[in-house]
Amino acid sequence: MSTNPTVEEAGRAVADPAAYADEARLHEALTLLRREDPVHWVEAPGYNPFWAITRHADVMEVERNNTLFVNAPRPLLSTAELDALRAAQRARGPELRTLIHMDDPQHRVVRAIGADWFRPRAMRALEPRVRELAKRYVDRMVEYGGACDFVTQVAVHYPLYVILSLLGLPESDFPRMLKLTQELFGSSDEEMRRGESASEQMAALLDFFAYFRALTESRRAAPTDDLASAIANARVDGEPLSDVDTASYYVIIATAGHDTTSATIAGGLHALIGHPGQLDRLRDDPGLLPTAVEEMIRWVTPVKEFMRTATADTRIGGVPIAEGEAVLLSYPSANRDEDVFDDPFRFDVGRDPNRHLAFGFGVHFCLGAALARMETRAFFAELLPRLGSIELAGAPELTATTFVGGLKHLPIRYTLT
Ligand code: HEM
Repeated sequence: MSTNPTVEEAGRAVADPAAYADEARLHEALTLLRREDPVHWVEAPGYNPFWAITRHADVMEVERNNTLFVNAPRPLLSTAELDALRAAQRARGPELRTLIHMDDPQHRVVRAIGADWFRPRAMRALEPRVRELAKRYVDRMVEYGGACDFVTQVAVHYPLYVILSLLGLPESDFPRMLKLTQELFGSSDEEMRRGESASEQMAALLDFFAYFRALTESRRAAPTDDLASAIANARVDGEPLSDVDTASYYVIIATAGHDTTSATIAGGLHALIGHPGQLDRLRDDPGLLPTAVEEMIRWVTPVKEFMRTATADTRIGGVPIAEGEAVLLSYPSANRDEDVFDDPFRFDVGRDPNRHLAFGFGVHFCLGAALARMETRAFFAELLPRLGSIELAGAPELTATTFVGGLKHLPIRYTLT
């Protein structure tokens, strides 16, 4: 139902987690901003102000210019309270700092440590394992007897297990890592976060660090052929990474590769259920799988934003931006931009070209893009030929988050062999 927001209300929706749990409301706000005020100053309660950048061309322009717009110190939208806590922590000593918190030249050096593990050769080596995992989870759907909550019973497990396989962790540790990543990095949506109290959170964090410290030590003592060994034995200027930087690397890999891909697979399946003509088209012509996967990624856009800070006075789309001001790159908005996509609100498994920005652009372009594509393809390549019928068995629900999100429940009924 239309809420007819004003431009000011639409701007505040960009910083409102609840807006992301209601796609119609979100896209009404973003469409208005693109049309009326595509570089819009947002003052939302509880947040430091920022510019919301909603047009595809402007998002690309900011990302391309990575010396004028830098990631540090505010790479993501967080509350003013959290911004202040982080600033205080930075002043005290080393903080958890991942690739997305860094700028060149340091960013380039640290990114190179893991980069080989995401190149086509490494992807080809990993593919049989990914297919095996895809088959395991489709088999599990059969075991569920024709009905399940696709998100909690399938989509959150499969991508994490792929990532942990790439890192080289033993399968016996997978359930423990699933629990830990959910406790620590469950989104801002309350239902997703376990261990509510600060002490439970702290205990989970200590567990996580203890686990990865032991992993680092074992990979330093006896390196193996996996990403965990590459991280543990990396040298920057001849020195190993510090404990905090090593842990940060594991954290970005485990977290960036998890919720994003599960949101894509669940949102992709939901889109196919909602567009039976597109589902039939894809089943009749499996050669469309690569464009279908790309369309699922555009459609879902699981990463809702990243931010940059201007290092000098400048302009975006003619609007003056002052040095030190933050800009928020709205990926869901860029991916529905009428100037770039033909009929952007149509889900089209054959869409080509599809210049979506769901993986970002420029030097921070998603390191795991090839993996995410391969995983999503492998899953649907396994599922679709075995699928008879499929329908919703209840109302799907989206996560309330301004960062990474998508469906948190997708009750379905199906026939599957
Ligand atoms: C960065 C999206 C899957 C690892 C990013 C960025 C986006 C993104 C938007 C920031 C790009 C920018 O600032 O320009 C996605 C989406 C995924 C996905 C939509 C799934 C559909 C993965 C996977 C991994 C991964 C599977 C594997 C571990 C990373 C890393 C970065 C990153 C390490 C930081 C790169 C840097 O700052 O240099 N991703 N991602 N992502 N992603 Fe992904």
